[in-house]
Amino acid sequence: MPYETILVEKREAVTLVTLNRPQALNALNSTVLKELIEAFAAYDADGSQHCLVLTGSEKAFAAGADIKEMQVQGFPDMYSANFFAGWEQVTRTRKPWIAAVAGFALGGGCEVAMMADFIIAADTAKFGQPEIKLGVTPGMGGSQRLTHAIGKAKAMEMCLTGRMMNAEDAERAGLVARVVPAAYLLEEALKAAETIASMAPLAAIATKEMINASFEMGLAQGINFERRLFHGLFGTEDQKEGMAAFVEKRPGNWTGR
Ligand code: CAA
Repeated sequence: MPYETILVEKREAVTLVTLNRPQALNALNSTVLKELIEAFAAYDADGSQHCLVLTGSEKAFAAGADIKEMQVQGFPDMYSANFFAGWEQVTRTRKPWIAAVAGFALGGGCEVAMMADFIIAADTAKFGQPEIKLGVTPGMGGSQRLTHAIGKAKAMEMCLTGRMMNAEDAERAGLVARVVPAAYLLEEALKAAETIASMAPLAAIATKEMINASFEMGLAQGINFERRLFHGLFGTEDQKEGMAAFVEKRPGNWTGR
């Protein structure tokens, strides 16, 4: 189905989603959200797809939520629409996905990147939560996910001053998994996605579920949750196949069962 604000392409087992509002530096308006919800749900439901890469343009991953759309809203509009709550649907994607970030990832742009399982950044990437300069605060999870990712001091500084963090600093702070030269961003992100897509699909979903649980649970509860999921994988064909393949010195041939 053709979308208005995003491009979606299947590359073998990897779905590539590209934000495509160049005239607004990929600002995230309601149409972008609606289309991303649809595209991510389609990816999750498609048995042939095992990893997704979300990217933007060379200049901007996304320069934030659409300020022009929000400008005219009042509290009753925002509250009754539960504005931004739809992003939770994107975060409920069960299969793995990667954000490939070049240029600006500001406000909602930084927040969407942080919704990904991990971020690969171009050396041109700039992360920031500049909402305070607009008289507001992060509203798509930035105050929480950024603090989890880089700690209180750095998150406070970024959110209170609006200062941007470059790619090198973002890697050092733990916000991004890896920095690559801008020219190789997509290639590197797709390569990582292909690697993930080549793994046993249920183990990939379980991995994601248990790591995400660490943000919600205490240590003992989280370790118990991990162990139960680990036990559960012994009920899959792919566990038998993976261990047999190791012993027989051959690659695993996964069924996703
Ligand atoms: N919303 C709507 N339009 C945006 C936008 C945004 N977040 N960011 C950029 N644009 C538009 C600009 O208005 C401009 O459009 P026009 O040509 O029609 O004027 C176009 O994109 C190009 O932008 P600039 O001319 O400003 O480009 P630049 O290279 O000079 O500056 C920039 C780039 C520093 C990223 C600057 O555009 C900027 O500061 N953007 C806003 C960043 C921001 O404040 N983001 C947070 C938004 S609020 C939010 O996200 C809330 C939340 O928690 C979810």
